[in-house]
Amino acid sequence: MSLIPDRVVVVGQGYVGLPVAMRAVEAGFDVVGFEVDDDKVGQLNGSSSHVEDITDERLASAIATGRYRATADPADMAGFDVVVVSVPTPMGDGVPDLSFIETAGASLAPHVCRGSTVILESTTYPGTTEELFAPILEAGSGLVAGTDFHLGYSPERIDPGNPNWGLENTPKVVSGVDAESLKHVQGFFDRLVERTVPVSGTREAELTKLLENTFRHVNIALVNELAIFSKDLGIDVWEAIDAASTKPFGYMRFTPGPGVGGHCLPIDPSYLSWQVERTLGHSFRFVELANDVNKHMPDYVVRRVQALLNDHSKAVRGSTVLVYGIAYKANTSDARETPSRPIIEQLLELGATVQLVDAHVPVGQFPPAATPALGTPADLAAADVVVYLVDHDDVDRDAITSAGVPVLDCRRALKGPDVQYL
Ligand SMILES: NC(=O)c1ccc[n+]([C@@H]2O[C@H](COP(=O)([O-])OP(=O)(O)OC[C@H]3O[C@@H](n4cnc5c(N)ncnc54)[C@H](O)[C@@H]3O)[C@@H](O)[C@H]2O)c1
Repeated sequence: MSLIPDRVVVVGQGYVGLPVAMRAVEAGFDVVGFEVDDDKVGQLNGSSSHVEDITDERLASAIATGRYRATADPADMAGFDVVVVSVPTPMGDGVPDLSFIETAGASLAPHVCRGSTVILESTTYPGTTEELFAPILEAGSGLVAGTDFHLGYSPERIDPGNPNWGLENTPKVVSGVDAESLKHVQGFFDRLVERTVPVSGTREAELTKLLENTFRHVNIALVNELAIFSKDLGIDVWEAIDAASTKPFGYMRFTPGPGVGGHCLPIDPSYLSWQVERTLGHSFRFVELANDVNKHMPDYVVRRVQALLNDHSKAVRGSTVLVYGIAYKANTSDARETPSRPIIEQLLELGATVQLVDAHVPVGQFPPAATPALGTPADLAAADVVVYLVDHDDVDRDAITSAGVPVLDCRRALKGPDVQYL
């Protein structure tokens, strides 16, 4: 088989899979986006993208080439040279839930042929590709990974909403179960991205992704805990972070926030700690500590809201709290595992009226008891306190700071006499 295959299937057309599919079309491949969600399939084929980083225009251009279509029919996977699997890997009751990988593997296995290349992209613990995924593919195809078909793992580093770093210019780590598999996995991604980074085995590639996200998780926990202590010590932690960030070596800037969300940080490090505990019987203390600190940040935010209202001789019960942001971070519609949700729920439980402003996240994903708002001058005038959780670019920050309402800014994005930082 040539190292330049033609037909690509991308399994899962979400935040990770859709950008890969689009890039593969742009690189000249014939691409099928296999997706179990019929609604998403219909939207995609109608040139409507549910992923902000992929515009409707870009999707329409891909469709217009005649080399992209989405489908929910597994039979449409037949005849691929390369398949990339990017399905969810959530936690279920503290245990990694690999059922999506298992189901995806079982449905693509009958279509694996001699010489085809299968690449797992979903984030998971080391060993998944060889110990879990390969046997499913082998059982369903009657072929042997590494001997009859190529198999590898390549973690995705996509950062939704990041205007500077996308799939194309972010180096891509690639691996294979043997040297020939690595060659094919790398050959494929060399056509999609500017730089590939080969590692010697799939476990190293799987660990790379978990290392990156655990590093971030732990450092965010560090500044979060520091923010809490600094407030009590009467020291401006944000100023210290700014000053430390001037050090040109040996320091990396992380900033406090209301907690961590999305599909990665609240989950991926726990995949690693689960595996360490299960295999070695040790607890991964850094991950446990970071989980503990980051998970409790929403409680701390609520305590700060209580204190701020108290300063104005008000209780949470009966107050109107205008919350900005339900997405887990700026400029994305992704509200999975968002720390805003427990904050809003706690405020509601304490008896507040919660109004919620977020133009990125569909109102259907708001907690039902929170009222959608636009952040108009009337909304601000009716609020007793503003809680600024997500700094989306499209927010009218001046309107907030000029409203004369006390503000708890968890992102240090606002300036004014009524603004307190986390
Ligand atoms: N979102 C991110 O920023 C990000 C970044 C890097 C890595 N990842 C990892 O990539 C993987 C996918 O994440 P995502 O954010 O794209 O999730 P997502 O939920 O946005 O997309 C996954 C898609 O797969 C579909 N799906 C589920 N089972 C399927 C099956 N058997 N066959 C076909 N389609 C199926 C779902 O309907 C969904 O549309 C996860 O392991 C995640 O940890 C995510």
